Amino acid sequence: MPLARTRTATAAAAATALLTLSGCSTPSQVDWPQTGALPPQAGLPDPLIRWNGERVTTPRQWFEERRPELQRLFQHYMYGFLPPVPTRTRFETDQVYTDFLGGRATLKLVTIETGEAGFPKIHLMLILPNPVRQPVPVFLSMNFCGNHALHSDPRIPLTRGWVYTNCKGCVDGHATEEGRGSQAMDWPIEQILQRGYGLASFCSADVDSDRKDVSDGIYASLAKAWGRPEVAAPENRGTIAAWAWGFHRCMDYLVKDISVDPRRIAAVGHSRNGKTALLAAAMDDRIALAIPHQAGCGGSAPSRGRVGESVQRINTAFPHWFNAAYKEFNQSTDRLPFDQNALVALCAPRPVLFSNATEDQWANPAGQFEVLQAADPVYRFLGAGGLEAKSVPAEGVLSDGVLGYYIRPGKHSMTAGDWEIFLTFADHHMTARPVK
Ligand code: GCU
Repeated sequence: MPLARTRTATAAAAATALLTLSGCSTPSQVDWPQTGALPPQAGLPDPLIRWNGERVTTPRQWFEERRPELQRLFQHYMYGFLPPVPTRTRFETDQVYTDFLGGRATLKLVTIETGEAGFPKIHLMLILPNPVRQPVPVFLSMNFCGNHALHSDPRIPLTRGWVYTNCKGCVDGHATEEGRGSQAMDWPIEQILQRGYGLASFCSADVDSDRKDVSDGIYASLAKAWGRPEVAAPENRGTIAAWAWGFHRCMDYLVKDISVDPRRIAAVGHSRNGKTALLAAAMDDRIALAIPHQAGCGGSAPSRGRVGESVQRINTAFPHWFNAAYKEFNQSTDRLPFDQNALVALCAPRPVLFSNATEDQWANPAGQFEVLQAADPVYRFLGAGGLEAKSVPAEGVLSDGVLGYYIRPGKHSMTAGDWEIFLTFADHHMTARPVK
């Protein structure tokens, strides 16, 4: 691959600082070409072909060389650099209520401090089925409107940070009592507990608010602490990467909680939160299973897709979700050196379920099936099984391979029926794995 013009020195230095601190430094990353110098590739690129053009021939080569290379490529050309693992993380158990849901569950409220004063504090809510006797598998999810929106119990604190204006009870960008339990329909907690799982959830704004003009989360804190404003510049940051880092900090806590089975933690999210859940799983193999529900463009749909949301459209409406480099592919997605099948492949051999709705064409359900088809060779190569369906399954029928696919009638939403499928998929695939 010929070397072409490289990124600006400052951006590259900031990127290297972030990479080095996150423990995946590479001397070559700053030499990757500008987008215009990348060769066009019409179809979804084969994840098993390395940057140097050679094919991966052994699982060891995949895990030790190609996988880290793809992780760096995704950060360099699309998501921005994941913030580093904090040197000092503190877990504070604020409250434990063993009488939640009339005694059927235990509610734990944990604060995860990710650095000095001023760094994001993640308020993790963990709900476990009673009696808490043995470690249980857990769904870890990021929510839109605050933990208090998931259930009306007044002991769940209102989220303190910024909230979306369309969250019920939002007044001047902040949560009020009116929002309590307002999303309970999307989170069938009793059903999850009855099936033997716990639910952990945190609000995305604890890590970074979803605003195109403001970076007030983890990148802003790092830029300030390091005295390097470029760390929070569009060349380096991306809100989805920040949120994925939030998933990882919650993992830091969950793998240590003795009530949780550390080998059976699934990452779940809807829509933009689903894009995040998939990236989080691709970058952290402590996550045992990923369910990016209706995640669409920038998540589970192909960037090269021609249906629904385009790269140009997502970059225009949500420029802060991705880094500056991704915008350069607006008119030339064929130059991307990867597509979202490679993000799924980064999760291999761990199970991934794509769930969709027929009326949610914005998220390109058919394209999402093609993404799984193009990730399947990596799973097969690793001897992990793959996608069982040969074509998009009938509505309401789960294709239940380790790469799962499901499409139901209806709209862009997360429902109790969707959770029924998540639970069934987890029952079949989230079996105990050795902890790395
Ligand atoms: C918009 C956006 C999608 C995103 C969705 C959501 O529709 O275009 O990419 O998935 O919001 O997060 O709800």
